[in-house]
Amino acid sequence: MNAPFAIPEALLLLLDRIQSEGRCETPLILTSRALLEYNYRCFCSLIPVDAVFFPVKTNNTPEVLGCLHNQGARFEAASAVELCLLLRTGIASSDVIFSNPVKSPAHIISAYQAGVRTFAFDTACEVHKIQRHAPQSEVYVRIEVSNDGAEWKLHHKFGAPGSEVIGLCSAARDAGLSPTGLAFHVGWNNAQLASWSGALQHTVQIAESCIRHGFPLRSINIGGGFPAHGGDQYTRLQDIADVLKPMVRILKEELGLLLYAEPGSFIAANACVMVCRVLDVVQRHDQAWVYVDSGINQGFYWIYAGVQYQVVAAQPRSRKTRNYVVTGPTCDSHDIFGDAVELPADLREGDLLLVFPAGAYVSSARNYNGFAYPDVLFA
Ligand SMILES: Cc1ncc(COP(=O)(O)O)c(C=O)c1O
Repeated sequence: MNAPFAIPEALLLLLDRIQSEGRCETPLILTSRALLEYNYRCFCSLIPVDAVFFPVKTNNTPEVLGCLHNQGARFEAASAVELCLLLRTGIASSDVIFSNPVKSPAHIISAYQAGVRTFAFDTACEVHKIQRHAPQSEVYVRIEVSNDGAEWKLHHKFGAPGSEVIGLCSAARDAGLSPTGLAFHVGWNNAQLASWSGALQHTVQIAESCIRHGFPLRSINIGGGFPAHGGDQYTRLQDIADVLKPMVRILKEELGLLLYAEPGSFIAANACVMVCRVLDVVQRHDQAWVYVDSGINQGFYWIYAGVQYQVVAAQPRSRKTRNYVVTGPTCDSHDIFGDAVELPADLREGDLLLVFPAGAYVSSARNYNGFAYPDVLFA
């Protein structure tokens, strides 16, 4: 379970600082502005993007959105609630796109009323929905690409086969919409270079075909999926940049298209760590249990789907270690960060544990994507 300790120095220094200032009320998600800014700049220097659309679903903390906005980011929203958050943070609706290919009419209406004019789609049904609720908007087709190598695959749920793209663009144009781009997503945390190069090559071929069929596209959006968990994200991004280079040249220089991306985890994941406190250390039969004051239900749901987080002691007193089950404070027996986590043998109540990385899909797990919990009707 425990991957090698790789919590960035900047976060550890931040922890020292807030502790010395008496501001370490646990549990908390400690977020480094410097790391966010560094990741954003690093992404833009390695991938020659014309615009980054940061997905609000990844981290919807207003300070994070504001910080990235100051760096020049634009934003990808999936719901009216996410859009409102962006508008409240001072971000213009013209800097927002909706990349969720299947949307609820109410959210399209709110987005259109707020001034959003760019929407993804991958079915004819969605074309008609956008035509009705966001007339004359620009639309881009989410296409199906291989998600081989992704830790979480998205291609079964979204993406039109390449053979359908011309038909979808025609349907959009007939509906008074402007098909202006193509988009894909290789799946979450995908370091497989063949998937990246294959996806872009496939998309560039489809773009060429669209242009031949009289659809003057403007952009290709290579989505998210850049690796951020479980390895050195910077060298892995460099490798991806290298394999994409020949296709990026064709896309930009031969086809005259803009390159967009929606890196979420790459930018936010390692910029945050969760700081939690040990409530109790208990020996139950042959297992040692550590109870902490925050658990899976506080935003770490992806553990249920197999995603692993490092759990380490913030200030170990000794080097001697033993394995523990690390569990949250709820009555739920699934609320477990790991069942063989190596931690100091003398761990005790009050010690701080760090759960890392905690910047992607953790604090935003509340009302994820901005979709509200169902109301209760008591009759
Ligand atoms: C449309 C879209 N763009 C971007 C992202 C961000 O992906 P990642 O966190 O892998 O960078 C997602 C994540 O699900 C997504 O659905």
